[in-house]
Amino acid sequence: MNRVFLETYGCQMNVADSELMAGVLERAGLELVERAEDADAVILNTCAIREHAEQRVLGRLGEFARLKQANPALIVGVAGCMAQHLRKKLLDKKRVLDLVVGPDGYRALPELLRRAAGEPIAEVRLDRDETYGDLEPKREAGVRAWVTVQRGCDKFCTYCVVPYTRGRERSLPLDDLVRQMRHAAQAGHREIVLLGQTVNSWRHGEHDFADLLRAAAAVDGIERVRFTSPHPSDMTDRVIEAMATNAKVMPHVHLPLQSGADRILEAMNRTYTLEQFLGVVTRLRAAIPGVALSTDVIVGFPGETEEEYEQTLDVYRGVRFDSGFLFKYSARPDTRAFRWGETVSEEEKGRRLTKLIDLQLSISGEVNDAMLGRTLEVMVEGRSKRGETQLHGKSRDFKTVVFADDGSAPGTLRRVRIVASTPATLVGESAETPREPALVTLA
Ligand code: SAH
Ligand code: SF4
Ligand code: F3S
Repeated sequence: MNRVFLETYGCQMNVADSELMAGVLERAGLELVERAEDADAVILNTCAIREHAEQRVLGRLGEFARLKQANPALIVGVAGCMAQHLRKKLLDKKRVLDLVVGPDGYRALPELLRRAAGEPIAEVRLDRDETYGDLEPKREAGVRAWVTVQRGCDKFCTYCVVPYTRGRERSLPLDDLVRQMRHAAQAGHREIVLLGQTVNSWRHGEHDFADLLRAAAAVDGIERVRFTSPHPSDMTDRVIEAMATNAKVMPHVHLPLQSGADRILEAMNRTYTLEQFLGVVTRLRAAIPGVALSTDVIVGFPGETEEEYEQTLDVYRGVRFDSGFLFKYSARPDTRAFRWGETVSEEEKGRRLTKLIDLQLSISGEVNDAMLGRTLEVMVEGRSKRGETQLHGKSRDFKTVVFADDGSAPGTLRRVRIVASTPATLVGESAETPREPALVTLA
């Protein structure tokens, strides 16, 4: 058994965990392959955040079941946030799964895979001390390096499975993180994204998240530092100041609102009021001119009335987020809200979601239109998927910008003048090299 296929679902933290697993597997002499058909073992790194996410994984497991029929020696493993749930499946009569490993069991992955060849294995214990800080992930090539700085979550929002699937909040030690970030820079990454479920509550010894931002910005070779997702309640003045006074920390904050109604925020156990949330927005905008804000919202939380939903729309019109990830509430077993049942029909949730998406699209469109004529600093990421002749990259405030391929390598910073926009993309032209004179054809 030496070829492993790894497939990832869910958030960036899961993507980073797959890079961690890839590092562990390669150090043990195993080979990672691109196709499940070429593998001796397949591992699905799963997400449980909404029912839909779980269904996708179950569908994929069905495909692996067929592969296993053709090749009974194939080891099928599941990692990540569905581990606790899927553990029971190990005992199924027509067993597909050989290995279930939770987010704190990755250190022993090579050994677990070997044992799973003999008998089904579940390793789903959560370990409040495991940070993997000493382990080097095998990072995907690219301008961006995702660096997990914190694992688990202690906030226990009443709708959310994460505290149950990933366990207690732990911060990685600062020296491990600095070492990892240096290695990432040496490997060619130019941007660091610090990751944690409530990333700004990171703390190690005397150091808080403001110190970590400064440490990241000080790493040689790193041009840009981003982070996701901060919790509004942990957005201290020290963190805002570290952002405002450090040109390498990018002016974009993903600040999840979840609801614009105080009663719902309280039922969600979000630990802030609307006024406090808006206070964070005001402080950010005062300290960091032009800061972009994005958010997450859940519609149809148990008990959400039409009026409370309207309050979310009002907050939306007032704050004008640059972009938003908007979700229909999905009841998750284990969570507190699960016991409250559902009070908003699927159809009504759909209506609330569509209207909010429309509002976000029109605001994003207006925000992007306001960029017309401006010159932005763009970090080139590569060729645009749509047009081979175009490059794409991100502006400092995390807008996607495409412009004509001028041969710039990924990681290069270019000044780009914006000439057209859609709600999702800005189109620009290089503001650095003189343009060819336009060819004018007279009819
Ligand atoms: N830790 C981050 C978010 C993690 S999950 C934070 O607190 O901001 C990403 C988003 O998924 C959440 O912000 C929330 O909007 C959404 N989400 C989480 N649980 C959900 C559920 N049960 N139903 C619908 N959306 C959910
Ligand atoms: Fe889930 Fe809340 Fe923790 Fe985010 S802060 S991961 S929404 S419990
Ligand atoms: Fe999903 Fe787990 Fe991330 S539930 S969103 S993969 S933390």
